Amino acid sequence: AKKAVLGPLVGAVDQGTSSTRFLVFNSKTAELLSHHQVEIKQEFPREGWVEQDPKEILQSVYECIEKTCEKLGQLNIDISNIKAIGVSNQRETTVVWDKLTGEPLYNAVAAPVSPGSSVPVAVVPSGSSVPAAGTSSVWLDLRTQSTVENLSKRIPGNNNFVKSKTGLPLSTYFSAVKLRWLLDNVKKVQKAVEENRALFGTIDSWLIWSLTGGINGGVHCTDVTNASRTMLFNIHSLEWDKELCEFFGIPMEILPNVRSSSEIYGLMKISHSLKAGALEGVPISGCLGDQSAALVGQMCFQDGQAKNTYGTGCFLLCNTGHKCVFSEHGLLTTVAYKLGRDKPVYYALEGSVAIAGAVIRWLRDNLGIIKSSEEIEKLAKEVGTSYGCYFVPAFSGLYAPYWEPSARGIICGLTQFTNKCHIAFAALEAVCFQTREILDAMNRDCGIPLSHLQVDGGMTSNKILMQLQADILYIPVVKPSMPETTALGAAMAAGAAEGVGVWSLEPEDLSAVTMERFEPQINAEESEIRYSTWKKAVMKSIGWVT
Ligand code: G3P
Repeated sequence: AKKAVLGPLVGAVDQGTSSTRFLVFNSKTAELLSHHQVEIKQEFPREGWVEQDPKEILQSVYECIEKTCEKLGQLNIDISNIKAIGVSNQRETTVVWDKLTGEPLYNAVAAPVSPGSSVPVAVVPSGSSVPAAGTSSVWLDLRTQSTVENLSKRIPGNNNFVKSKTGLPLSTYFSAVKLRWLLDNVKKVQKAVEENRALFGTIDSWLIWSLTGGINGGVHCTDVTNASRTMLFNIHSLEWDKELCEFFGIPMEILPNVRSSSEIYGLMKISHSLKAGALEGVPISGCLGDQSAALVGQMCFQDGQAKNTYGTGCFLLCNTGHKCVFSEHGLLTTVAYKLGRDKPVYYALEGSVAIAGAVIRWLRDNLGIIKSSEEIEKLAKEVGTSYGCYFVPAFSGLYAPYWEPSARGIICGLTQFTNKCHIAFAALEAVCFQTREILDAMNRDCGIPLSHLQVDGGMTSNKILMQLQADILYIPVVKPSMPETTALGAAMAAGAAEGVGVWSLEPEDLSAVTMERFEPQINAEESEIRYSTWKKAVMKSIGWVT
């Protein structure tokens, strides 16, 4: 059959906490032509620990690229039309690998003994249920709580030392403390650093290094958005910060080069793991942390425009233009994007909720009350109310606006009438209430309330959730017809890069994306009552652990 004629195509890797995807877009319309998705394992070797295997992540990228190319072939689309590849990724997740062997350096180890604890340090033998191959410490991981406590006691000068440079509170969430933990606890990492073989990176760096050749000349880089989540990066000078590296005790030579979010970093180099040989030589020219990528994919280029992405967590980002706005209400200041080497940097205020989609996964995997994530909508629809049940899924403590590591999950308001449908409904409501908390904080920091909320991410296909969100925020919720905004943002950045030039970043290049609107349908008073009961439940979740 004759191959279909299309404009230039752009591919995007979207590497998230739960899954990896490769998607191919038409750069003239933003039409999604084909994609493939692979679910990623998360290991919980001990309470509070979350790990992933960097090699599994890399393999999943190869598999997704290969399968997507196969599907394009079946659609008679010539993959030689793919002119660039962008990468968007889960942020903060920390990998250290050996530049000579290409192997991740972290073997699974148990947590260090915290002062006063009777738990011995133990190396978990390979072959146990814990991943024995290289693993990465994931953003939700809490093992560094004591590291954070110790560091916070010796912050130089005033308490603003870290925040004024990075826009971030000292928390287990960000990469610097995870890296500190690896340097303190993993012999292989220590040795590789001593022997000048170690490279550190967030998932973007690990992938770009591997995809551009790995041990055969892989490019060790990251972009400003990912760098801004490490707690080692000065968001004003846009460079690694010497004082921060000293404070955290991080050797600067293991850090990647920081580049803009849109420029050619290197070319795809074929690996024996990748049969899709046609992508050999295609430039990798876009890189953004997933939340920044979604901001770009939603075209939030103006000061005051905001989006909320519903993934494993929920992340509401508001573009604050060239100004670094420091929050008074528990939000983070972060780099939004820098679309080109000579282009200006944009900043964002961010409200991060740790657990959103992850609560659905928990209902599926830990309680077994649903078999697939989609089933949650059916259960919630059956009852249409939580019947006074409130679910605060503070599994990893609470992030914005509370930053309360002592919180743990609670389900309250149960009666003998409560059933799994009510709990399912309460789980969806929890996602919406948490978003409302952030939006309130954002409105207070920005001064001008948002008139509507642009949303995206996997969970937005759940219509009950979207309606609930409009009801609880009491403003319209606007969702693009194509929910893969994160990947789209990375593809746009890659296509717009100097030397590629196939995407103009103008609205007309998004003609395939239409919008759906959800208007509030309950009265304002009911919305307020439900929200204030939620806040009562949140208060009960705080202080659960000390
Ligand atoms: O900051 C963490 C975030 O980037 C992870 O996103 O949706 O892949 O869990 P997600």
